Amino acid sequence: MSETAKLALDGKQAEFGLRHGTIGPDVVDIASLYKDTGLFTYDPGFTSTASCESKITYIDGDEGVLLHRGYPIEQLAEKGDFLETCYLLLYGELPTTQEKEDFVYRVTRHTMVHEQMSRFYSGFRRDAHPMAVMVGSVGALSAFYHDSTDISDPHQRMVASIRMIAKMPTLAAMAYKYHIGQPFVYPRNDLSYAENFLHMCFAVPCEPYTANPVLAKAMERIFILHADHEQNASTSTVRLAGSSGANPFACIAAGVACLWGPAHGGANEAALNMLSEIGTADRIPEYIAKAKDKNDPFRLMGFGHRVYKNYDPRAKIMQETCHEVLNELGIKDDPTLEVAMELERIALHDDYFVEKKLYPNVDFYSGITLRALGFPVTMFTVLFAVARTVGWIAQWKEMIEDPQQRIGRPRQLYTGAERRDYIDMGSRG
Ligand code: SDX
Repeated sequence: MSETAKLALDGKQAEFGLRHGTIGPDVVDIASLYKDTGLFTYDPGFTSTASCESKITYIDGDEGVLLHRGYPIEQLAEKGDFLETCYLLLYGELPTTQEKEDFVYRVTRHTMVHEQMSRFYSGFRRDAHPMAVMVGSVGALSAFYHDSTDISDPHQRMVASIRMIAKMPTLAAMAYKYHIGQPFVYPRNDLSYAENFLHMCFAVPCEPYTANPVLAKAMERIFILHADHEQNASTSTVRLAGSSGANPFACIAAGVACLWGPAHGGANEAALNMLSEIGTADRIPEYIAKAKDKNDPFRLMGFGHRVYKNYDPRAKIMQETCHEVLNELGIKDDPTLEVAMELERIALHDDYFVEKKLYPNVDFYSGITLRALGFPVTMFTVLFAVARTVGWIAQWKEMIEDPQQRIGRPRQLYTGAERRDYIDMGSRG
């Protein structure tokens, strides 16, 4: 196996070292390319670029494999719970019983937010999109928790990580309650992560509320499925923001903003809106044709993935969870589910989708499930952000603790005007 890659150009040659991962593609270390050759690489969208070294999550897009610290997502989703997955992502190993109890205790006692935050929310319109509220409120956390913004202090880094994981459900539930005009519901220390979140979203002061255990288990699994996903757009945003030394709350707010896009975390909201717009199975061919039409910007939301060229393993588990939730709720013939399943069947047999290896991704079935759980469509990406916070903060911590860490500053291929002199107003046009 060669240990170097050679670049030959205009009679000159440069040689670059190869680095091998535990699993997955090797990388060519081109850090000295510009110094050695005066050349940049060009890779908009980073389709062939490893931006960092990481030990947290591994994806094999061709095989449809997703591992968190080496453990398959299918096993974590089936056998674990969300805070166990959080511990694994943060610390690198599955917790012992004592470690799990200690971690749950620490997270549980950081779930409240500063009481002033409720005033912060009252500045928003009630009909503001909950993701807009989340971008604002998550960023505002750095205005309240100055004692965990010194990123050079390992203790403060861990406190900030615990605070983010603990407070995101509270902020998300507050965004939902504010949106629907109901009073905020405080977190409860006696409930699991998912039960507490459902309680803060759906309890009202007028009567007791107990989360349906089947639905709470489904919520835990949905959080696990969305916890981390290698160097996706929002995680890369968090890493780049963190590379400047910005505090962790501000970095997570940047991740929330990036996740909102319909090509990324906003796809769960867009996918449900698309399925509702299609309405009935007989209209599917019309939308498949639109998706294939080069002149039509329409895409099948919830389909396709930059990395997965096989079934997204999370989509399979999400589909199973969708059926479990609908069965538990006695929803027999959800027309949107009918359309989704027929759309999937047709697309998976259509040459266009087969040739381009477009499969359902994690966002395709999540919307149907979340709506059945009682969430409005505008809350879907907020739930994604709640779950992904642990991935963002684990990747942020890994980046900050990497001795090679330096500010991220890409270069460019400049195709603008060459140098030219200023033209006085009287001499223009
Ligand atoms: C998430 O990166 C992550 O890991 C993200 C995520 C995570 O957990 O963090 O997995 C979460 O964001 C999942 C993806 C959710 N987005 C959607 O479902 C939106 C719909 N999907 C597409 O917009 C698209 O598939 C992307 C954005 C997901 C991937 O885009 P790429 O990798 O840039 O691929 P592309 O746009 O270059 O498409 C390749 C070809 C194109 O055709 P050609 O120009 O080569 O002829 O496939 C076509 C595209 O037109 N194509 C689609 C399509 N997705 C790609 N055609 C119709 N419908 C689609 N959904």
